[in-house]
Amino acid sequence: MKDLTPDRSELDPIEIASLDEIQALQLERMKWSLNHAYKNVPFYKASFDAAGVHPDDLKSLADLAKFPFTLKQDLRDNYPFGMFAVPREQIIRVHASSGTTGQPTVVGYTQNDISTWADVVARSMRASGTRAGDVVHVAYGYGLFTGGLGAHYGAERLGCTVVPVSGGMTNRQVRLIEDFQASTIMVTPSYMLSILDEYRAQGRDPRESPLNVGIFGAEPWTNAMRAEVEAAFDMHAVDIYGLSEVIGPGVANECVETKDGLHIWEDHFYPEIINPETGEVVADGEPGELVFTSLTKEGFPIIRYRTRDLTRLLPGTARSMRRMEKITGRTDDMIILRGVNVFPTQIEEQIMAVESLAPHFQIELTRTGRMDAMVVHVEATAQAANAEARAASAAELARRIKSMVGVSAQVDVTEPEQVARSQGKAVRVVDNRPKG
Ligand code: DLL
Repeated sequence: MKDLTPDRSELDPIEIASLDEIQALQLERMKWSLNHAYKNVPFYKASFDAAGVHPDDLKSLADLAKFPFTLKQDLRDNYPFGMFAVPREQIIRVHASSGTTGQPTVVGYTQNDISTWADVVARSMRASGTRAGDVVHVAYGYGLFTGGLGAHYGAERLGCTVVPVSGGMTNRQVRLIEDFQASTIMVTPSYMLSILDEYRAQGRDPRESPLNVGIFGAEPWTNAMRAEVEAAFDMHAVDIYGLSEVIGPGVANECVETKDGLHIWEDHFYPEIINPETGEVVADGEPGELVFTSLTKEGFPIIRYRTRDLTRLLPGTARSMRRMEKITGRTDDMIILRGVNVFPTQIEEQIMAVESLAPHFQIELTRTGRMDAMVVHVEATAQAANAEARAASAAELARRIKSMVGVSAQVDVTEPEQVARSQGKAVRVVDNRPKG
């Protein structure tokens, strides 16, 4: 793999500023953001007033803990435009969640917000090893989802040649990567695996592909998956994180030279980790739920938003700003099986350790009587697809899950191509337990 470490002179000065400088900027911006939300969004005025706090009470960054949280439900209650802090005419773009689990949530951007977003995605791409002049293949979905357009504007800002493919038509994805000589791909890690399968199906050697960098996010993925994709394509695989409520992709990103967790672009997005049960802020290094406060957003300021993502904060390494560890999972994706907490990423890790299994999997939850059960559906590799090999793989995976994760799972090893694929975020858990 190529050494793609950026030169320090290429970085934004704030990326390598002292912590004092970063914190001074954060405090100034946080005061502005709290005031802006309080004055212009009735929801924030009501929520601060009810908690007995005023933006002027913020004297230090730690004072943020006095302010109330914002929940996904608050955004739903203010559907569609109730959380906007500027007149609707100044909003030049909206994005929205799919709304499959209820009322969709809508976010809005001013011209300056779109520009900030392009800046943080460009910074993320540079951290990933992408440079001006690279051909960037964007296979995140375009549309109300923030992945496609977020990546697109960032790649343009960095000075790349953008190929806005969006998801789907996997054979065409491979053809365009090859014909246009894409050196960077931006896509969900699960869809990258489908692209990998397609390379093999076309009889092409993925290690000969023009790709040097993959910028993967929008769903949890493990270091074991990183190793698999890096070896298969002879490319760097780097993690990008974000959520539409905070801006979209580009809230945090790994650096290609260290790949040791994601540096949070703290000059725009202020992170806290809380105990999800008590709401108390925990110290850096402690695991918990990630909470974000936007520091510069005009159209849709967000104060202490509970992401439901679980991680911990670590000190800066390749950059001064703090890192978040790779996301373990979301509080709402956590499976509780006979008292043991299980995340799909833990199952992924065990699947990756069994050589005869392909990394395509789905977890099904079932119930017989009063007992919940977990069935892991996973594909055999083409070389190990006969019935005997599949039975052996199933036994090995069940044994690994029992000893490493601590739960009994039923394992169903299918022939290749039998587990549902997605062109965007993978659906890892299917709950078939009777309702109620
Ligand atoms: O998924 C934005 C995005 C697009 C990020 C492209 C990265 C790349 P939402 O659809 O609002 O936005 O979903 C946000 O996805 O709260 C996490 O649970 C999950 N997520 C996003 N990035 C990662 C990641 C986009 N790198 C939700 N690792 C977040 C783990 C991630 N989970």
